[in-house]
Amino acid sequence: MLLHLKNLLRPEELARARTLLGDDAPWTDGASTAGAQAVTHKRNAQLAQDSPQAAELQQLVRGALQRDPLFFSAALPRKIFNPLFNRYSGDMNHYGPHVDGAVLHSRAGQEWVRTDVSCTLFLAEPDEYDGGELLVHDTYGSRGVKLAAGDAVLYPGTSVHEVTPVTRGARLASFFWIESMVRSDEQRRTLFELDMNLLRLRERHGESAETIALSGVYHNLLRQWAST
Ligand code: NI
Repeated sequence: MLLHLKNLLRPEELARARTLLGDDAPWTDGASTAGAQAVTHKRNAQLAQDSPQAAELQQLVRGALQRDPLFFSAALPRKIFNPLFNRYSGDMNHYGPHVDGAVLHSRAGQEWVRTDVSCTLFLAEPDEYDGGELLVHDTYGSRGVKLAAGDAVLYPGTSVHEVTPVTRGARLASFFWIESMVRSDEQRRTLFELDMNLLRLRERHGESAETIALSGVYHNLLRQWAST
């Protein structure tokens, strides 16, 4: 499942993020954090994780995630990897097809995170750069994603994906992973569909005996499938 989270960041948060990610930010070679399989395909710049800029940006992104009910319903997060930040421009402009490691060490939280769900938060507007699409390959083919600044996409951590070369301008983004309380993509999707349709039923008809009973089904499924 690919899910578009619109306006994850508020305009003032986006503006602050862009200030912190200026040319004088501590950009490093992104290849230094890639796994053995990924390292030969990775050509981008990454914000130094131990910088004050990264600390402020991580707080900002975590705060935005915490207030977004769609993110919670879709990802059912148990742990969130400390958000990382990257820039694709000039000759550091792409990341070829790869898979992310299944379990990664999140430095800020000093914990291991299983990468059930991947998230990319776009921090540059689509008209600021050419190329730089996130391509997600799955069983049903490839999907290209290039969203407005402040919007994010959730996609399965199991997928092969890539960032196509940026041929003009600079693509700025945050990326991170979520370990979900519900490990299976299929079960998460079932819960998400149930939750979203319950919401629509309540909007249309108000609370009823049926919506209460179906909420019970939702929570009973979550109880069966979740680990905390
Ligand atoms: Ni990746």
